[in-house]
Amino acid sequence: MATEALSVNNLEICYGQSRAVNQLSLTLEEGCVLALLGRNGAGKSTSLNTFAGLLQSRRGTIKVFGRQVERLSPEAIARGGVRLVPQGRRIFPSLTVLENLQVAEQQVAGRSNSWNLGRVYATFGRLKERMRQRAGTLSGGEQQMLAIGRALMGNPRILLMDEPSEGLAPMIVAEVAQAIKTLKADRLSIVLVEQNFNLALDVADQVVVLNTGSVVCAGSAASVRAQPDLATRHLGVF
Ligand SMILES: Nc1ncnc2c1ncn2[C@@H]1O[C@H](COP(=O)(O)OP(=O)(O)O)[C@@H](O)[C@H]1O
Ligand SMILES: [Mg+2]
Repeated sequence: MATEALSVNNLEICYGQSRAVNQLSLTLEEGCVLALLGRNGAGKSTSLNTFAGLLQSRRGTIKVFGRQVERLSPEAIARGGVRLVPQGRRIFPSLTVLENLQVAEQQVAGRSNSWNLGRVYATFGRLKERMRQRAGTLSGGEQQMLAIGRALMGNPRILLMDEPSEGLAPMIVAEVAQAIKTLKADRLSIVLVEQNFNLALDVADQVVVLNTGSVVCAGSAASVRAQPDLATRHLGVF
């Protein structure tokens, strides 16, 4: 039977009196990619940040490999194997590539295929070439690779990626897609937040579409591909 990596049930998330996400339920199976899609302001980042423990939900449950985590601190959730690649990358621009990776390093006892510098460099060769360079001088695509590499140094079992293709040229978006496929082949479980519908459908197994904080469509990537009007209705893709 498939293992549930992340299981979210009936989540409600508010900013003060204003409700940003309502009745969100989803299941991410181990080794799969779930794409969380929607227009600007749909509630995608709010959801991811809540999965990572940076925001507290008002209602609902979040389970990571069967363990309830919605009242745990971000640090405890990270130790449990959940790592966020935040929207806008948020790398340290004045540190070198190597330093950015080193500050994120976390040893995890008892886990076999753990991540380290060598493995990150083997996955993202460009980071190795640029390891002494200040991160602020990297291209957008290289900064995204660094943001992903930094998350990997924390030895995640679940990776939460918030719009990794944002602001990147199409050729670089293809590199990001390739990186996601590589990580999936390594059995990482990934929630991919995107506005790039094609990238998401290229790599995802499951798709959940949010509109103003509510799920308007959920299903396999294949079933979503078979509904061509969906993209125009909920995603602003023409
Ligand atoms: N810090 C905040 N305080 C109040 N409202 C917020 C805050 N962050 C986001 N929102 C609101 O929550 C809704 C969802 O935002 P967000 O999750 O960032 O959307 P997305 O990532 O899908 O673009 C939007 O209406 C946004 O204006
Ligand atoms: Mg966002």
